Amino acid sequence: MDQNILGLAGKPALVIGGGFGIGKASALLLARAGANVALADVIEERAQTAAKEVEALGVRALALTGDVTDMKTALRIVDEAVKFHGSLEVLINMVGMATWNELMDIDEDVWEQQMLINLRHHLYIGRAAAKQMIKQGSGGRMAFVASVSGIYGAPLHGAYGAAKAGLMSLTRTMANEWGRHQIRVNAVAPDVISTPRHPGNMTPEQAQREGVLLGRMGHPEEIAGALVFFVSDLASFVTGQTLIVDGGVHAAFPHFAGIQNAFQRSKQG
Ligand SMILES: NC(=O)c1ccc[n+]([C@@H]2O[C@H](COP(=O)([O-])OP(=O)(O)OC[C@H]3O[C@@H](n4cnc5c(N)ncnc54)[C@H](O)[C@@H]3O)[C@@H](O)[C@H]2O)c1
Repeated sequence: MDQNILGLAGKPALVIGGGFGIGKASALLLARAGANVALADVIEERAQTAAKEVEALGVRALALTGDVTDMKTALRIVDEAVKFHGSLEVLINMVGMATWNELMDIDEDVWEQQMLINLRHHLYIGRAAAKQMIKQGSGGRMAFVASVSGIYGAPLHGAYGAAKAGLMSLTRTMANEWGRHQIRVNAVAPDVISTPRHPGNMTPEQAQREGVLLGRMGHPEEIAGALVFFVSDLASFVTGQTLIVDGGVHAAFPHFAGIQNAFQRSKQG
């Protein structure tokens, strides 16, 4: 049996937003695959608690605290992770947050804040991590969390969707510019995930009405699975991609229900 099929055992990893929800699930999954994990969160207690849980899985863990929307703090966090591990090979950054506003009502502050928390820090953090990986000369793996709101028109998610679309574009550009250094950069676009902050509770009937083919909401661990796949050896030839993880919502042809109804009517005569 191959104990290290993901190729992550002993790898130095950094998870930003790792104290809670999808980030914490990612940190724990990396640890189960044998990676050593530095994790950062804006809330110190979350970072400390998550780091203890990671350490309990038998790997090295470090809790870092800071708001990554501040560029200096973001760079300090990457720096501290590198000092802790002595190197850096894996980055998962899932920090992001949505506001709900119609385009007519979004003021400049909200727009700027959405760009900051969903897009800009990914440049600073990704670039700092890439510089370190290029210096090491043995490649690297990065994975980010976008959203289906960045792929489709997303009423009330105007700023969020634009920022997440920017993040998917940034992912592809990073993959283009850093591929020659064997740095792979990918993203996951979730939908209908029940996180502690966003605990939707869909009944199977609601899920069916909303087009979730699997008939339920997803869990943070199911986004973590896709993120860890991207940073694992299993994805060694995958870069510049965004994977939708949504229980099948976006697999359906939008007019399918209408076509099905028309088909039924035609059969009835
Ligand atoms: N839940 C969904 O259905 C869904 C759907 C699409 C996309 N997403 C995306 O998934 C990601 C994670 O969502 P979540 O609901 O797990 O988030 P969350 O808010 O529950 O968890 C994020 C973690 O990051 C930390 N954090 C927040 N701002 C930070 C900052 N500025 N600096 C450092 N740490 C910070 C928080 O303290 C928290 O521990 C986000 O990017 C979100 O946009 C979620």
